[in-house]
Amino acid sequence: MASLAALLADLVGPAEAFGDPRRPDVAEAAARCLPGEVVAARDGDEPVAVVRLASGEVCVLADACPHDGGLLSDGFVEGDRLVCARHQWELDARTGRCAHRPGVVVPARRLVEKPLDS
Ligand code: FES
Repeated sequence: MASLAALLADLVGPAEAFGDPRRPDVAEAAARCLPGEVVAARDGDEPVAVVRLASGEVCVLADACPHDGGLLSDGFVEGDRLVCARHQWELDARTGRCAHRPGVVVPARRLVEKPLDS
């Protein structure tokens, strides 16, 4: 079932759906993001998806799916991949590379921070 944000993005377009001032900044999102979760955040004015892998590593990806612009922060984490909730395209959370389309890459970076349990 699609989330409310995904339905909103379908209706008004992803750019409008991104304009949520309640998104936390990356540091705050990383602090609340548990292993295996993804949290919507902002990096300055840019919407991002903050992912914490099971290893505790935190990855930050642009919050727009390369398939059709869905919010990646509405997706879910499977292993080291972030899966888009709309049509299940899978992205490597560390590199932003798409598993379905070689050459398609979402801007991504790793955040240097200690894992939650250290
Ligand atoms: S919009 Fe992400 S898989 Fe289609």
